[in-house]
Amino acid sequence: MLKVLVCVSGGGTNLQALIDGVESGLVRDTEIVRVISNNKNAYALTRARQHGIENVCVSPGDFPDRAAFHEAFLQAVEEAAPDLVVLAGFLVVIPEQMIHKYRNRILNIHPSLIPSFCGTGYYGLKVHEKVLERGVKVTGATVHFVDEGTDTGPILLQQAVEVKAGDTPQSLQRRVMEEAEWVLLPRAVELFAQGMITVRDGRAEIACRQ
Ligand code: GAR
Repeated sequence: MLKVLVCVSGGGTNLQALIDGVESGLVRDTEIVRVISNNKNAYALTRARQHGIENVCVSPGDFPDRAAFHEAFLQAVEEAAPDLVVLAGFLVVIPEQMIHKYRNRILNIHPSLIPSFCGTGYYGLKVHEKVLERGVKVTGATVHFVDEGTDTGPILLQQAVEVKAGDTPQSLQRRVMEEAEWVLLPRAVELFAQGMITVRDGRAEIACRQ
């Protein structure tokens, strides 16, 4: 069984897609062992609770400084002893120590086609606002491994999504979630669980099925 830890900050629709994937058997040999949120009001925590998944909140505001928060966060991660960490709308920068320890074992979902509309300041609805401002006709989502940079790690999966006339950031966000994010994230975890992924020279490759 692949033990997966999911980190969240908000609504948790990507967490839900993963839960649904595991419960339906689309994502095999996988158990979501813990959900960590930095925000105690995140609806994602309720989703975890509803599905009997252990959940904890580790909030920066509850600690005197960043170092103390990082220590508590790392402890909450270590306790779960995960094989894979999934950042599903987690809006906190991961401590460098954790990136080293879990190299090629942390996946992030980002709501654009990296390397477009990513990096510092590009998260959540802001990404879709920038996409509409720039007037691109195609956007999408990316699942990638996390390295020391912001959205710079090896790309695993991408899915393009059409930008339509009259889109608002909200309507575009919804389409990107439905057509890309909620499909890609469970697929990425299934590929990981089945040992289908190799990362070499900063590039993620998927083995061909026999
Ligand atoms: C998702 O669109 C995810 O791609 C994005 O936050 C949203 C979380 O929604 N993540 C980022 O922007 C990370 N840079 P959710 O809580 O409903 O899954």
